[in-house]
Amino acid sequence: MAEITLESVQDPGIGVSMKTVVNAAELREVVAGWRRDNLRIALVPTMGALHAGHLSLVDAARRHADRVVVSIFVNPTQFGPEEDLDLYPRTPSEDARRLAETGCDLLFLPTPEVLYPPGHSVTVEPGTAAEGLEGEHRPGHFRGVATVVTLLFNLAQPDVAVFGRKDAQQLAVIEQLVRDLHLPITIVAGETVREDDGLAMSSRNRYLDAAERRAATVLWRSLSGAQRLIAAGERDADLVRARLLEVLTSEPLVRVDYVEVVDTQTFRPVLEITAPVVVPIAVFLGTTRLIDNLALAPASAE
Ligand code: PAJ
Repeated sequence: MAEITLESVQDPGIGVSMKTVVNAAELREVVAGWRRDNLRIALVPTMGALHAGHLSLVDAARRHADRVVVSIFVNPTQFGPEEDLDLYPRTPSEDARRLAETGCDLLFLPTPEVLYPPGHSVTVEPGTAAEGLEGEHRPGHFRGVATVVTLLFNLAQPDVAVFGRKDAQQLAVIEQLVRDLHLPITIVAGETVREDDGLAMSSRNRYLDAAERRAATVLWRSLSGAQRLIAAGERDADLVRARLLEVLTSEPLVRVDYVEVVDTQTFRPVLEITAPVVVPIAVFLGTTRLIDNLALAPASAE
């Protein structure tokens, strides 16, 4: 087992102190102490390279619990063989500083060997929410997500866990996991935090060069277009898909991976928009893959 490391990040300005632990035993020890004191614990799982979207989830966690644990772990099992695992930005010192300022109580920073010791072979198979969209375009991705999130839940024993709507299908997969496995955890959803021009914040935005960054505004423009169409009473989902494609492909640097209109509950494609839907999109800008989505209700249901 890895050596126990415990360090504190002190911020004299606002008088907070955050512990950082890297192994499972240390995490369990801190959490067990809080449990004995009947404190309510929230977990915010992340892969780091933190931005304001992540920090908004930490704020939400603080509103729902007495103690907040944030995990930073670039989870190898949710990346495909051709994906960006090695390139994925890792900025632990900067992340720790921002988390201490945001009121995180404990940062869990495991190595792959801590979560997946040699011989680790059990995985968690996600449910139907993982079919289609990201599940189809990134085979095995949600198995990796469901497995690591289950490990983190078991280690941190949270009462509450916070996930962003930015990854709407991931949120649905986790909600289904918690429901189907009867886990005693309340899932809280955080709204997507955007840049001023509408681009959803993402750790992967830093891969974009200046031209790609300008082109990336087309994601939000396409989603706002879909929003206007549906608000004006459009019910034909194919027409909305076609309009999304038209706007996205008007940007030459963009290669569309998928555009969809799915039912909010099942994440299955719909033909007619008669109930709330999610409009998820995925595009490549160069080698960078970005996803975004908007939850929309038909005009009459608003
Ligand atoms: P990561 O991409 O780091 O995202 C961590 C959490 O932040 C997720 O719940 C995600 O939905 C949320 N998030 C990302 N961008 C956001 C934004 N602009 N506004 C609000 N929330 C945002 O998602 C993962 O990591 C991993 O799959 C993980 C759940 C940690 C499992 O490895």
